[in-house]
Amino acid sequence: MGKVLSGIQPSGQLTIGNYIGALQNFVKLQHTEECFFMVVDMHAITVPQEPAALREQSEAVAALFIAAGIDPSKANVFMQSHVPAHAELGWMLTTLTNMGELERMTQFKDKSAGKESVGAGLFVYPSLMAADILIYNADLVPVGDDQKQHLELTRDLAQRFNHRFGDYFTLPKPYIPEVGARIMGLDDASKKMSKSSSNPGSFITLLDPPDVVRKKISRATTDSGREVKFDPANKPEISNLMGIYAHCSGLTLAEIEARYEGQGYGPFKKELAEHVVAVLEPLQARYNEIRSSGEIHQILKRGAERAAEVANKTVADVKEKMGFLAPRA
Ligand code: TYM
Repeated sequence: MGKVLSGIQPSGQLTIGNYIGALQNFVKLQHTEECFFMVVDMHAITVPQEPAALREQSEAVAALFIAAGIDPSKANVFMQSHVPAHAELGWMLTTLTNMGELERMTQFKDKSAGKESVGAGLFVYPSLMAADILIYNADLVPVGDDQKQHLELTRDLAQRFNHRFGDYFTLPKPYIPEVGARIMGLDDASKKMSKSSSNPGSFITLLDPPDVVRKKISRATTDSGREVKFDPANKPEISNLMGIYAHCSGLTLAEIEARYEGQGYGPFKKELAEHVVAVLEPLQARYNEIRSSGEIHQILKRGAERAAEVANKTVADVKEKMGFLAPRA
């Protein structure tokens, strides 16, 4: 059994992009690997958060993990801040990270672009993410395409540590879906679908009611022509919608092309909406049950206990290797 770790920020509603790029693979991997899935609240505060909203979103995202199919008896689900060892290892890895490496991170460049002042937390964000992963000696990290660069830095930091202090960390590999690794905005296929977009028509959230989903998909931008064909270079909008279709229906891209041959975009979009609704409706029903039962708190408590067992051991080993004086009785 390998180890798997991943995290999602509680910084707004989760989108179908988060689901296809990451959450769906969390659910898949829980059957064969030891899994640690967390809500990364410490990362969320690298940009300003309203306290009440952060608390509500944290609980909502944890409940969505379970609603999406994560079984808490198989996988450990927890809040990042409930396992303080993450912050501790994050600091130690920050001291091994070069400014130049952090300056090259595209997520940092995107999030800091045009801002007058940028928090230092946003800058060192990738070192904390490396700690999240290395603290469990994770083999696999299920993420969307946009996290690949952070994973490369994590591997570099693991190697650097191993080289300086002796072999210890596993070099983790990203686990990225072949289709749908980067779901794009419904209004513009040149931009990643993001929960922080100012245009709500550009994204579908996991809690959008069916009629909202239907409306957003019917208004989604399409390419010129009428052929339903997977061709990201020439038909980026339709190819993006096809990626969503494939994930929500279980059909392959070739099967989707064959199904709509000669029919144009209308029937394709209509049925796409129904496939998305068929995924979201049961998820939303489970979500409502979980939120009203309050069971999520018990799940998070158990998840954090198991996570802390592993994480605290790693931090103790790392301190020893780096030369920290241990407390004595
Ligand atoms: P976050 O919260 O931005 O996104 C959570 C996950 O969803 C994926 N994702 C997408 N996949 C496909 N298409 C999209 N449009 C799309 N938007 C988001 C992301 O790639 C991610 O896998 N830095 C991370 C959180 C994190 C983390 C970690 C991840 C903190 N520590 C340790 C893995 C391991 C982030 O900002 O994800």
